[in-house]
Amino acid sequence: MKRFVALLTALLLPVMASASTLTADADVTTATMSDTLYGLFFEDINCAADGGLYAELLQNRSFEYEDILNPQTAEHYNGWAFNLAFGATGTATVMTESPLHENNPTYMRVDCQEGEYRFANLGYQAVGLAGGIPVEEGKTYRCSVWMRNGGGFDGQVEIALTKRTGKSLAVPKRFTLTDEWQKYELTFKPSYTEDAVLSFILHGTGAVDIDMASLIPADAFGADWPGGGLRADLVQALKELHPAFLRFPGGCVAEGSYYRSNFYDWKDTVGPVETRRENFNTWGYMQSYGLGYYEYFMLAEAIGAEPLPVVHSGLLCQARDVKEESLTIEETRAYAQDLLDLIEFANGDVTTPWGALRTEMGHPEPFHLKYLGIGNENWDTPYWSRFDVLYQAVKEAYPEMEIVSSAGPVAEGALPAYAWRMIRAKYPDTIVDEHYYMSGDWFLNNVGRYDGYPRTTRVFVGEYAVHEDVQANGRRPNSLYSALCEAAYMTGLERNSDVVVMASYAPLMARDGMQQWTPDMIWFNAREVLLTPNYHVQAMFAMAVGDQVVDSSCEGGNKLLYHVVTRTEDKLYVKLVNVAAEMDDMTLRLAGVPDGKASFTRLTGERNAVNTFTDKEHIAPTKGVVAIENGEATMTLPAYSVTILTFALK
Ligand code: AHR
Repeated sequence: MKRFVALLTALLLPVMASASTLTADADVTTATMSDTLYGLFFEDINCAADGGLYAELLQNRSFEYEDILNPQTAEHYNGWAFNLAFGATGTATVMTESPLHENNPTYMRVDCQEGEYRFANLGYQAVGLAGGIPVEEGKTYRCSVWMRNGGGFDGQVEIALTKRTGKSLAVPKRFTLTDEWQKYELTFKPSYTEDAVLSFILHGTGAVDIDMASLIPADAFGADWPGGGLRADLVQALKELHPAFLRFPGGCVAEGSYYRSNFYDWKDTVGPVETRRENFNTWGYMQSYGLGYYEYFMLAEAIGAEPLPVVHSGLLCQARDVKEESLTIEETRAYAQDLLDLIEFANGDVTTPWGALRTEMGHPEPFHLKYLGIGNENWDTPYWSRFDVLYQAVKEAYPEMEIVSSAGPVAEGALPAYAWRMIRAKYPDTIVDEHYYMSGDWFLNNVGRYDGYPRTTRVFVGEYAVHEDVQANGRRPNSLYSALCEAAYMTGLERNSDVVVMASYAPLMARDGMQQWTPDMIWFNAREVLLTPNYHVQAMFAMAVGDQVVDSSCEGGNKLLYHVVTRTEDKLYVKLVNVAAEMDDMTLRLAGVPDGKASFTRLTGERNAVNTFTDKEHIAPTKGVVAIENGEATMTLPAYSVTILTFALK
């Protein structure tokens, strides 16, 4: 009997349906929408920059690796393997005397005593005898290395792209060194697609000093930028999100943690790459800053996004175990100059010192910076006392600059309440950055969060994502269900887009196997990009965003159906999110919409479905068409689906 009931339920479930009717009049609008609603939040977490978007294929190229919480010389050898040639002897010593540049203090001295000493950079994720540098047959790679004769070296240094075992993959080149630091350059065109290493072979005895090795695909996006460019496939994935803004460089990374030396100082990240001062990343690895402030501005410009840098507020990350005092108020006053210099770097003309640096780096035109975030997830008096100093300094010099303030690290409770009191009393002109990582239920229960916000308020939902339980693989999933809860929530953001002027999912990217945080919107490995259901929701929403919210209502028994209707001059967008386990027979009654056909994009599948590197398209958008006649269209919304329809209004 039990089995019979189970069978009956299984047979009946797919045909169970609710019926809903959505009614809207295209000519009745309720709010003007922000034109910067959907954007990106980029942080170097999960190897999103180094080992990710930054096209540099070598890890620890400059021997600067250091864990500030536990400094050890061994860290400087990370990513490298020494003494690889059979029969050769020699030493590799971390050195700091007469470095290449004062901001780049550490280099390696390799002293060959006998034989042909070989050492190599292994790239990211080398395993066993396989290297960690993904190279492709026939592609061109640009390689550069700074070297000098470190003492009595009597031969030549060969630079080669090889397998870990030494097998050559491309034509190598030999160099004779001088006693001064000098940059040596070559290109490789591998004859095989392989996981490679970058090998250095000393043909001769004596010491060689080496620093700032680099290997970057010649077809990197922005290959002519000072940093050397970005991974083209990841930039493409960002472009397809049609972002209105780019918030960078963090997150916690923007603040720095534990010690003052860890503050993220934007000035460390500009100028020639060999002069940028690397810093420990609060997520446990090193930031090369090859993707620095100039490159962030260039990226924003290239993908059509408003740049939105976030600078620290003089406070080390409040959520971490602070080991040194943050800036005093007096010191914060001095630090305000860094913010003014940043604005000059972005917008100043070539006659200004920082505008001149931007010009030298390749961009004489200003970047037209309009937004500046001060602080990330900060709270209470320590924040607001410093915020005030920085806010006043920026506003005095640049009254038109839009300042983003922080509402703290959580969605609810005393911290945001205090922040909002400060904002309403003293800084009502700021855009308020709210962050929340919550359950799917929380998101569904809070779709109306902004309905009651005062309409003069401006909110930036700077970080949000649905967090489900951690699974056996140690990760929170990027499931279809999580994406649908986010989509449902986004209908509320759109309806309130007069208040919610910006929103960005977080974190944006993760390198598979090197992540510190899950879920993440875009996953990648050495060669491939994996788009999650959450990514597809973001892209679908950003592709179909109106400039006015259209009044709409929905009737029927489906409590898990969410909707929003928006319009531009010539298009009407209807977004329908069915988080229910049953399909919904949907009728759309749309006054003011001419007869014709509407196209739709849909994402649907099993509730807990995820995309994987072996099944990347498991959950992917599909397209369809529906007819509208006499203002009425009907369609079936599958269980667990988001559907976005576009109607022509002319
Ligand atoms: O997005 C990951 C982290 O979450 C950010 O660095 C921080 O702002 C938040 O706590």
